[in-house]
Amino acid sequence: MPTVEASEPSKAIVVTANKYASEAAAKIIRRGGTALDAAVTAQLILTMTTPQSTGIGGGGFMLYWDNSSSKLYAIDGREVAPQSAGPNLFTDRNSKAIKFYPDAVINGRSVGVPGLIKLMEETHKKFGKLEWEELFIEPIKIAEEGFSVSAALHNTLQYMRYLKTVEPASSLYFEKNNLNQLEPIKIGSILINQEYAKTLKRLSKNGADEFYEGETAQMIIDTVNSSDNVSDILTLEDFQNYNVVWRDPLCVKYREHKLCGMPPPAGNISVFMILKMLENYDVKSFQPTSPEFIHLYSEISALTYSDRNFFLADPDYVDIPIDGLLNAEYLQDRVSIVSETSSIRNPKPGKPKGAKKYSENIDISRDSTSHLVIVDLFGNAISMTSTIEGPFGSHLMAGGFLLNNELTDFSFLPHYDGVPTANRVEAGKRPLSSMSPTIIFDKNNKIHSLTGSPGGTSIIGYVAKSILGLLDWGMTPQESADIPHYMRKKDVTELEKGTELEEHQKFLEAIGHKVSIKRKRSGLHVAKKVSEGYIGGADSRREGLVVPIN
Ligand code: GLY
Repeated sequence: MPTVEASEPSKAIVVTANKYASEAAAKIIRRGGTALDAAVTAQLILTMTTPQSTGIGGGGFMLYWDNSSSKLYAIDGREVAPQSAGPNLFTDRNSKAIKFYPDAVINGRSVGVPGLIKLMEETHKKFGKLEWEELFIEPIKIAEEGFSVSAALHNTLQYMRYLKTVEPASSLYFEKNNLNQLEPIKIGSILINQEYAKTLKRLSKNGADEFYEGETAQMIIDTVNSSDNVSDILTLEDFQNYNVVWRDPLCVKYREHKLCGMPPPAGNISVFMILKMLENYDVKSFQPTSPEFIHLYSEISALTYSDRNFFLADPDYVDIPIDGLLNAEYLQDRVSIVSETSSIRNPKPGKPKGAKKYSENIDISRDSTSHLVIVDLFGNAISMTSTIEGPFGSHLMAGGFLLNNELTDFSFLPHYDGVPTANRVEAGKRPLSSMSPTIIFDKNNKIHSLTGSPGGTSIIGYVAKSILGLLDWGMTPQESADIPHYMRKKDVTELEKGTELEEHQKFLEAIGHKVSIKRKRSGLHVAKKVSEGYIGGADSRREGLVVPIN
């Protein structure tokens, strides 16, 4: 369960997925650091305290509000496919998709060139106030002295079938019981990570060059290239060529507010399509968990995901009809097929202006990942989602941190019946993501709120609904994070297990929905400006911490 240190509004605020990260980030802000400085420290700590979710062996998307220039930046630190990667990375010799676990994931072939360290260094040069080395002091201390293993880390380890077979992760995260069997490290045990401490010291001293050209790069390359069934797939050149991309933020008007997020390959375009379709309805008049609203949200989500699967990918490789997908007439036309009394079976993609013909992408990304929001004492703000993809990424480790399996976010099949998938694997390309860091502005271009979540492909549905909570239903950040979940990505309407929503199954089935009662693992971290400062919320489904700073 999350903890909120105080519910009073504060001048600055930190919300991250873990107490060590939130507390260290808050210290950085109290010391005069910016939201960016605090996010760097938090991310370095999350790498070790929540290795199941995120880390410097992965990538992420950052939205940064620079208050002195009143400018919003959108920075893409997504992993890229190495030069050796091609459309058949995840197919067998019969051109069939290989198995996700263990074949595709637990293997160097799933590892993309990580982007987080370059993302943090470049943004630190522009938005940081404290010295780079200072941001590493607390992370190094925690790596050397250890941290108390959380329930979330322990519980995730319990259902990891393959991790205990892969070294050095097995020795770090499991211990032998009396019967000589491996068991997850216990809740409350102190976990020390000396290898990571050494990596942090090198990065602290030598910056991103160390990660992309130095010993750390070589350690990652050696780990990947010596893993099963691969040889020389990752090279130093792949690391030297890695670039962070400074993109134009993607912003849309939603009723009285401006919503801003990351353009593709991130997920915000889909979040915004859901909301722009819902703008045609009096959302306020619906109860957030009423079956009527669940039906509407489910139908609109299904239309959105269907377009996503066919048209979206890395915009530097594929022409994406961004304007076409967000066009008001197009969305009006899409939503016109939604009926109040029956569900659309298998919605097809629409025909947005500028769309090319592609096959469907089957996105099987897992519900790992981490989101943080921070506002500093200068009014700067950050909303950032980062990931190593599935729990514990590829399970491979180098320098004390996990390496991502982000390349499995590409379509495993490059085409169907000769028609290419937009999100097929290509050298140098970034896989399509659902991550949707969002900042909402009021009509005077002042920050209204910040939100984002982990959760694989469900991220889009989680984030869109938290925005409805904040804007249409007037909820606090905590309330907006805790609305029971419902969504539909294709033909199944998902209702969150263990919630009041289970009672709506019959109503929904009667109007044609296929319903599945599922555990939904969002980790919405939200902050909102109120007249006296900021208030925050951390999703009750995970163990994030809100720290107010005055
Ligand atoms: N790997 C999860 C995502 O990027 O959406």
